[in-house]
Amino acid sequence: MTLIPATGRLLYEGKAKRVYATDQDDLVAVEYKDDATAFNALKKAQLLGKGALNCRISALLFEHLERLGVPTHYLGLQGDHWMLVRPVRVVPVEVVVRNVAAGSLCRQMPIAAGTPLDPPLLDLYYKDDALGDPLLSEARLERLQLVTPDQLEAIRDLAFRVNGGLRALFAQVGLDLVDFKIELGFTSTGELVVADEISPDTCRLWNRSVSDVEARILDKDRFRQDLGGVVEAYGEVLKRVQGVCPEPRVYG
Ligand code: TMP
Ligand code: ASP
Repeated sequence: MTLIPATGRLLYEGKAKRVYATDQDDLVAVEYKDDATAFNALKKAQLLGKGALNCRISALLFEHLERLGVPTHYLGLQGDHWMLVRPVRVVPVEVVVRNVAAGSLCRQMPIAAGTPLDPPLLDLYYKDDALGDPLLSEARLERLQLVTPDQLEAIRDLAFRVNGGLRALFAQVGLDLVDFKIELGFTSTGELVVADEISPDTCRLWNRSVSDVEARILDKDRFRQDLGGVVEAYGEVLKRVQGVCPEPRVYG
């Protein structure tokens, strides 16, 4: 498809997205791929339609956060699996907020899956695939000089605001936001914004009206656990979210 503005050089290829320069310095184009990976890409598949679903879900969620006053890199959609965003210097920290115990927390700690976490738990991981994205301590963060203490405070604040906003939105459509991962970045003017994507690849979402522990999963755990119906689950998330959100804007 033709993009306006035109895409240029490939800047970065991740597991689920490609990021391109455009003919404008203050814009980059993000292409959402159909590739699915898990366990640091040990498990891989192509899931037809996943890219477009995640692109649209991310757009709806970024716009929702924007309405709540949470700054993001998102500018607008372009076609069904592209979005235009502001370029950011990504903070090499994966920011995870957990409302309910699941996933790695239950593998690493004596906490049963499904245990509510009140207040929510914030976990920070060092974003480095070669090291397997290890869990950070505050002392390690400080030692690596990844962020200043003030920036860490701003990251915490933003993470909990994102959690509050998304949790309420998903609750409105019968979904429990179990946990999620976001990435943050600094814009050219030094503003800290939510970047990357927010989708069923990066959130755990459970269907509230379903008690079966596998059937209720509407996120990438369906792929991680070989449960099938991954694209259908993402489609269900999109259908519900778009039922309560305005149509996402097209850039330009
Ligand atoms: P975890 O339980 O595996 O630590 O995952 C916590 C949340 O972060 C969950 O919603 C899935 C998301 N996540 C990612 O988006 N990317 C990743 O690489 C990992 C490991 C988790
Ligand atoms: N995104 C990570 C990977 O591909 C892990 C995950 O989401 O489970 O490997």
